[in-house]
Amino acid sequence: MQEALEAEFDTVAAWTERAVAELGSDHAIPAACRGSGRPADLAWLADGLELHDGDRFLDAGSGLGGPTAWLATEYSWRWRGPVVLAEPMVHAAAASVRLFGRPALAAWTEELPLRDDCVDAAWALGVLDTVPDKRAVLTELHRVLRPGARLGLLVLVARGERAAEMESNSFPTDVDLHRDLAATGFRVHDRIEAAALPDAPPEWTRRAEAVDEVVARDHADDPRWQQAEDQTRLLGGLLDSRDVVIVLLRCSAE
Ligand SMILES: C[S@@+](CC[C@H](N)C(=O)[O-])C[C@H]1O[C@@H](n2cnc3c(N)ncnc32)[C@H](O)[C@@H]1O
Repeated sequence: MQEALEAEFDTVAAWTERAVAELGSDHAIPAACRGSGRPADLAWLADGLELHDGDRFLDAGSGLGGPTAWLATEYSWRWRGPVVLAEPMVHAAAASVRLFGRPALAAWTEELPLRDDCVDAAWALGVLDTVPDKRAVLTELHRVLRPGARLGLLVLVARGERAAEMESNSFPTDVDLHRDLAATGFRVHDRIEAAALPDAPPEWTRRAEAVDEVVARDHADDPRWQQAEDQTRLLGGLLDSRDVVIVLLRCSAE
């Protein structure tokens, strides 16, 4: 599992950074939203964060940092504040610093090197379904969030038997996800399936695909590229068959 995680999130992150350098910085945000974010998903979650100027924001499991770069750009009219990205894959964390110039910690969300109650809003996008112990992640997020702080989640949930085919992930059921959130002190204010929101604009998709093509051109003969590609294809099939569904949640720490 660790090997698959590294191939998918660390190695590809380093390759993606190089492809963005070749194609131009306007490709950075779409390419660096790995596994989450289309703009409509990010906007729905961002609207639930209730950000105010000066708020301290945490992106847990930030990958290449694309979603937070999107947030800082699209929400600059309403919020500017300190940002911390926490991502356990060191190449991904370092690449996010170079791509977007924001501080990143190489840290697992189960053990954040942050003090209690020091975060005003956070999101974790596509992270919970990659960790076996969801309560450990949520408990730690609850510890660092101040009481009442908002948390946005993008979670891939299991709806069909085939969800178990993807051994690198452990997709929660809807019921388990809500139990885990309640047990760790979170209230869910709203939820929506990402499928109900608009697709990414064509230009966003075109840029993300252009980056993928450069990565494939340079690395398709690397077994790690094949491994990551297999993961992407398997997940795509599970999403098409709705054995796995993307759910967005607006929560608060009670
Ligand atoms: C699907 S990617 C999403 C990355 C980013 N949030 C985004 O939306 O672009 C999942 C991320 O979760 C990270 N991850 C996996 N296990 C984690 C953990 N225990 N704590 C924090 N992040 C974790 C992976 O390294 C990866 O970067």
